[in-house]
Amino acid sequence: MTSIHIEAEVGEVAERVLLPGDPVRAKVIAENFLDDVHQYTAIRNTWGFTGKYKGERVSIQATGMGIPSISIYLHELIEVYGAKKLIRVGTCGGMNENVHLRDVVIAQGSTTDSSIVNQAFGGVLNFSLLADFDLLSRAVNVAKNLNLPVKVGNVICVDLFYNDYDDPNGTFGDGKNTFNDKLRKYGILAVEMESAALYLHAAAAGVQALGIFTVSDDLLKKEFCTPEERQSSFNDMIKIALETVIQ
Ligand code: HPA
Repeated sequence: MTSIHIEAEVGEVAERVLLPGDPVRAKVIAENFLDDVHQYTAIRNTWGFTGKYKGERVSIQATGMGIPSISIYLHELIEVYGAKKLIRVGTCGGMNENVHLRDVVIAQGSTTDSSIVNQAFGGVLNFSLLADFDLLSRAVNVAKNLNLPVKVGNVICVDLFYNDYDDPNGTFGDGKNTFNDKLRKYGILAVEMESAALYLHAAAAGVQALGIFTVSDDLLKKEFCTPEERQSSFNDMIKIALETVIQ
């Protein structure tokens, strides 16, 4: 039996899964980091691969961008294929003085403007979206051992890439300060578009999840990574994610 958006048989997907948005990234990770690689899905060109990392079975499943798209893959990976440890590997926009281009950011918590938390709890409470503590502490230790600096904290998971949160006269600006200024003041490190879905699905199913990101653009300094810089910091993040997911 296959699922609607993943054409794998049950058993072809590993319990440990890395989740990049981009299918080409999924392929590059599988080819450069895994042995015995086998592609199990190509529906919509949203590719998925299973291979071995240091002898342990790991899958790499592309998810597309944003909460609705990743939610489809999370649901099918967890409910149909039995995924138990899920690590998102993606990029984020840095929005804090302490966060710089190419840094690795680990989302301890995810704050979101999406309605998915309200939908899940009928608007009665504001459920805290948290990383799995075991995965989080392992990732921090792995990064320390590899001498890779990481920043750990809260991120904002947005529905719209093109929003007006950097405009003082935007939806939530006060005419002087932007909404991003306020989020920064509250300690938000970076902006991305999938972690809230990851942490909500994991909590609902009682499985482990973590979001790790490299900073591809800096919203404060208006700087952007070159493609080469993106690739090398991306590789650092993949090493952290793979070493964490197999432990
Ligand atoms: N905004 C939202 N998501 C992102 C960004 C951004 O600036 N950079 C990488 N993912």
